[in-house]
Amino acid sequence: MKILIADDDALQRELLKGFLENQGYETLTASDGFEALALFEREPVQLVLLDQKMPGLTGEEALKKMKAMNPMVHAIMITAYGDLSTAVTVLKLGAGDFLEKPVDLSLLLEKIQQIEQGMAVDEDVAVVEKAVEEGPLPLKMIAESPEMKNVISFIRRVAESPWPVLVFGETGTGKELAAHLIHLLSPRDASLFIEVNCAAIPENLFESELFGHVKGAFTGALKNRRGRFELASGGTLLLDEIGEMPLVLQPKLLRALQDGKITRVGGEEDIRVDVRLVTSTNRDLKQMVETGRFREDLYYRIKVFEIEIPPLRRRREDIPPLVNFFLDRYAPTGLRFTPEALDMLIKYPFPGNVRELEHIVQRTATLVRGGIIRPSDLPGEIRHHSTATQGTLAQSLEAVEREMIVSALERTDWVQTKAAELLGISERVLRYKMKKGGVHKGA
Ligand SMILES: Nc1ncnc2c1ncn2[C@@H]1O[C@H](COP(=O)(O)OP(=O)(O)OP(=O)(O)O)[C@@H](O)[C@H]1O
Ligand SMILES: [Mg+2]
Repeated sequence: MKILIADDDALQRELLKGFLENQGYETLTASDGFEALALFEREPVQLVLLDQKMPGLTGEEALKKMKAMNPMVHAIMITAYGDLSTAVTVLKLGAGDFLEKPVDLSLLLEKIQQIEQGMAVDEDVAVVEKAVEEGPLPLKMIAESPEMKNVISFIRRVAESPWPVLVFGETGTGKELAAHLIHLLSPRDASLFIEVNCAAIPENLFESELFGHVKGAFTGALKNRRGRFELASGGTLLLDEIGEMPLVLQPKLLRALQDGKITRVGGEEDIRVDVRLVTSTNRDLKQMVETGRFREDLYYRIKVFEIEIPPLRRRREDIPPLVNFFLDRYAPTGLRFTPEALDMLIKYPFPGNVRELEHIVQRTATLVRGGIIRPSDLPGEIRHHSTATQGTLAQSLEAVEREMIVSALERTDWVQTKAAELLGISERVLRYKMKKGGVHKGA
């Protein structure tokens, strides 16, 4: 890894250079922001260590320009001690990290090693991204996060095979959409995609629904009827919520999969079916197997390939593009969210996942007056969640720090030497932090 060190303080520069070269890194040095930029343009650098205060360009300005040239670059900003506001802007610039002066070298090394590990993952993602970009999807499925890019790339690969796929994930994550995409990317895309929601069929009609019936098989069976399996022949059958399939019917499904044969209810003859099966569930099928509520042989048969669609709160990068996608769908008039409102959405945990987000966008887009959606236009659950966890990380940290300081001072009757000892910091640092946090006796 090649590291660019930019600092106007020659001593500091040499110290960092010596330390990093000792650790086996290649380094380049610059004594101000302009020189750093010039070097950055010429040399392939993976990491920059930037002093925040430099003559000419500040560290932030230099970093902004570097990020514009190479968004993949990593940076660690070196800030004045206690300068949290810079730290926050640095984090917002996507710099990755910051260190306070004087630089703790072992901490620096730790951060560099973390970045290196992250870079290995980024490389994997780059490979996946390439696979994803093979061609446009036949169906719009937003996948901005590495997690979803992985899902899409996996879908592309399994779609070509004839084997069963089990799609699982929480409610509203996009399982049905994924199943449909599998069909459209498969060689069967010109044939039918048939969906059966196993939770919606009354138990006594289940068998007939799947396998059909012959005339007179039961009261109300007035004529021969083909089931979903026959209808889907040549195409793809999605058995949604497969966990709801009655145990008594499971052997029949197994037979259809293993032998490619079904029998209509009340019928005698075997009917050949050629169906690609996709199943989906939000239940823990493995546990259902363990407790005897789902057949083990069927379980292994349907999960030749498994795809997990992660919950939305584990892939928040997808939230802004999803919001735009749903805005285009429900409010084609150019309605937009304010950055604050979007921020509240990004922080919300979405127990109902993408479907919940879709409904929220639909609802607010319909109700709002004017061209912009503000925080006050958002539904209560989001506003309430947001007041519970408001503020940036730095603000929360500051609040915690202030609380600890006040509590230590109260416990020591405001004797600063003792309080500092209790907190494990020097008295000088305590005084500094008290001043910054506005902490004084009687406040
Ligand atoms: N990545 C995505 N891009 C665009 N739309 C999405 C995406 N994921 C889900 N949706 C939309 O969100 C809604 C819910 O998705 P879907 O019905 O596929 O979820 P599900 O996992 O099957 O939910 P359930 O478990 O409740 O059946 C649908 O309108 C779907 O089109
Ligand atoms: Mg579904």
